[in-house]
Amino acid sequence: MSVSLCGIELSNCLMNASGCWCRTEEELDDLNISQSGAIVSKSCTLHYRKGNENPRYHDNELGSINSMGMPNEGVDFYSKYGLHRRKPYIISVGALSIDETLKTLEFVKNYDLIELNVSCPNIVGKPQLGYDMVELDRYLDIIFSRFNLKIGLKLPPYFDPIHFEQVAEIIKKYPVKFITVINSLGNGLILKGDGVSIAPKGGLGGIGGDYCKPIALANVRQFYQLLKDTDIDIIGCGGIKSGRDVYEHILCGATAVQIGTHLVKTGTGCFGRILNELSKYVGDKSLNEIRGKLKVY
Ligand code: DHB
Repeated sequence: MSVSLCGIELSNCLMNASGCWCRTEEELDDLNISQSGAIVSKSCTLHYRKGNENPRYHDNELGSINSMGMPNEGVDFYSKYGLHRRKPYIISVGALSIDETLKTLEFVKNYDLIELNVSCPNIVGKPQLGYDMVELDRYLDIIFSRFNLKIGLKLPPYFDPIHFEQVAEIIKKYPVKFITVINSLGNGLILKGDGVSIAPKGGLGGIGGDYCKPIALANVRQFYQLLKDTDIDIIGCGGIKSGRDVYEHILCGATAVQIGTHLVKTGTGCFGRILNELSKYVGDKSLNEIRGKLKVY
């Protein structure tokens, strides 16, 4: 079940989604001893951030809503954590402004890959960079002209075929190692009783879980087709809670997958169970033989 992601060997294709079970040292330690193939850190900024007011996370039987506001310990903490881990470690960097991102990237150390998050929906007054093609292009131009780091992008969900093409064209201009698709569905609303379920932004937040899976699969599939002639790997993320869900992401073109809402709900024991289930779908094949082999009429 091992897999090569951007040339790095993972014992298996599962990892946490950034933001889920990966902010504190205890949570990261839990991932480190879990059966996940890699660890992804909370999206970090140059300095510690407290994040948005509580309640800021809520879930129900179909998924979750969050407006955390990027609470994190700061880049130095996540870089130092890289010294202790016993499996591949992806540091997620929150792209709040170009200046801060450049400064934060200077401090990223002890990592295997960097996941640059251009899709956080929860910062008041900051649009999602991934939805502004001109700004995304400018941003990547500045970053890749300054740094020779192994950087991938965490993208927001796209819905329009033209947008997939535009984003793929931008990505192909730079030495992007991987893309993670998708981040949560931004600015959704889940009610609790007669009211909102979370406090920030009048109750609006990023939606994860079952709600996301069809959109995540479509994003994996579309980018797999558009990036076929490159060596950019795709990490699928969205609605994974079983081996069958992982198998579907791989059929659509994912090399590895991330688990978010389900990990928060059930804890790190989910990795072993999902791997077990996945092995029944994979049989004696390698994941390479299955990847992208979605049957179409
Ligand atoms: C947060 C949420 C996201 O979806 C993300 O990509 C980064 C940060 C947050 O609110 O902390």
